[in-house]
Amino acid sequence: MTTTLPAWHALRAHAETMRHTHMRDWFDGPHGPARAERFTAEACGLTLDYAKNRITDETLQRLLELAAQARVGERRDAMFAGEPVNTTEGRAALHVALRAYPEDGYRALGVPVGEDVAAVLGQMERFADAVRSGEWTGFDGRAITDVVNIGIGGSDLGPRMVCRALASAVSAGSAGPRLHFVANVDGSDLARTLAPLDAATTLVIVCSKTFTTLETMANAGTARDWFVQQGASRADLARHFVAVSTNRDAVAAFGIDPANMFPFWDWVGGRFSLWSAVGLSIAVAVGFARFRELLDGARAMDLHFASAPAARNLPMLLGLLDVWYRSFLGAGSRCVAPYCEPLELLPAFLQQLEMESNGKSVRLDGGSIQADSAPVVWGTTGTNGQHAYFQMMHQGSQLVPVDFIATLEPVSDLPGHHTKLLANCFAQGEALLRGRTAQEVRSEGVSDDALVPHLVFEGNRPSNTLLLQRLDPWHLGALLALAEHRTFVQGALWQINSFDQWGVELGKKLAAPIQRELEGTAAAAPHDASTAALIRRAQAAQSAQRAAA
Ligand code: F6P
Repeated sequence: MTTTLPAWHALRAHAETMRHTHMRDWFDGPHGPARAERFTAEACGLTLDYAKNRITDETLQRLLELAAQARVGERRDAMFAGEPVNTTEGRAALHVALRAYPEDGYRALGVPVGEDVAAVLGQMERFADAVRSGEWTGFDGRAITDVVNIGIGGSDLGPRMVCRALASAVSAGSAGPRLHFVANVDGSDLARTLAPLDAATTLVIVCSKTFTTLETMANAGTARDWFVQQGASRADLARHFVAVSTNRDAVAAFGIDPANMFPFWDWVGGRFSLWSAVGLSIAVAVGFARFRELLDGARAMDLHFASAPAARNLPMLLGLLDVWYRSFLGAGSRCVAPYCEPLELLPAFLQQLEMESNGKSVRLDGGSIQADSAPVVWGTTGTNGQHAYFQMMHQGSQLVPVDFIATLEPVSDLPGHHTKLLANCFAQGEALLRGRTAQEVRSEGVSDDALVPHLVFEGNRPSNTLLLQRLDPWHLGALLALAEHRTFVQGALWQINSFDQWGVELGKKLAAPIQRELEGTAAAAPHDASTAALIRRAQAAQSAQRAAA
């Protein structure tokens, strides 16, 4: 187990000595000028400056030893080889095959997958072209103007985030239909989305790996009723519903023609699935050629992850730093701050990716991991966060490592904005690193001794800065594959299965009988006193609403 490895013990001892060091001293010391170059790595059009971390050459060396002793490289190779790395479900985790070329020769549990992947990509291309060109029409013969993706979790967050990220990168002339995303079973989500739409020019993608997810099936059923209320016949629905799923029978049972189903496979985890048919909404929104560029950027990162030496391997370095902060320096969360408005949904996507993958306390062998795993991932775009919670990161009592993400080329062509954006991004990293001493406060003219401690910034607060050349599908693909592989490295270091999610099951199971009680179709079941009281309150409110109606 990882925590008994010699490198783990060495890092524990090393972390103690590092608690009393300040990054400012390293930058001001003799090796300071070389530090930025020493701790910068580049791949696939991405530059990672990780010099503002609480690490020295020795730290990095010991972390790399940990990676070697935990056999992260071997686990990566097993994932790429399509071995059953998702041990509790006996499945491969082969999302890398989704962005590969058939000749790359990927196999899931020994079975070649390249031809199946290529066939579905072809199906997606034909569909996306037909919808975007107006060849695919609604029930009154008009072209599709609006596409609603109904899905949740991995069947929503990835495509929603990518469509948002690339919306402004798609030139107006090549714009496809408007994309909408509905996830929540709260009816206000679907109602608000459908209200302004014309059913005759609206198409629904029901996106669900299992095709049993409560939220998605409830929303899909209500959407189907809405089409009928809006004048569509049952036969018309074939022109307005397509499905993305691994569950052909359930798709057919719902009433969607299997010819309008886009399949994927059990070796694709939900949170790793945007590259599969789950990305159909992306292909429709930006065009299939752009979708392929997204896959190509991800493929470039896959090749980098598979072959670059650990010391220059971006996913490896980031995963090691994550474990350093979480398991050795006690950081309970990590802030993701994209200084790039189109990446506003990236933190939400990363929350599922990292916290559903590694939010576990049990090792692959069933034992306790005996270390802190998956930190809380959170954040919003800069500069907005600066005016909200950055105060806590600068002067609060917690250690919160930050990932700053920015593009070198502007996304918007409004003059002057990008310079201000970058200046703020870089300044925040510098302020977190350097802080401000009492002496500096006084030298700036503050003589009120009572005020000085309030103006002191401790500094020594770590950050990574990740620069993309530009926000286009290719670089976005590389960025997202980097995030996936970083998550994998974290999991490999903690020796957990990053590809299952048993923790979401219990709540789902308990919801069904409570729903029946609220609907009045089942008698009260035994609950704890708190839950029972909540159910009674909801029932009372429902009775009052019925009486008032
Ligand atoms: O409940 C969690 C989860 O299973 C996620 O892992 C998944 O991405 C999401 O629900 C949606 O699942 P599906 O695509 O099967 O509807």
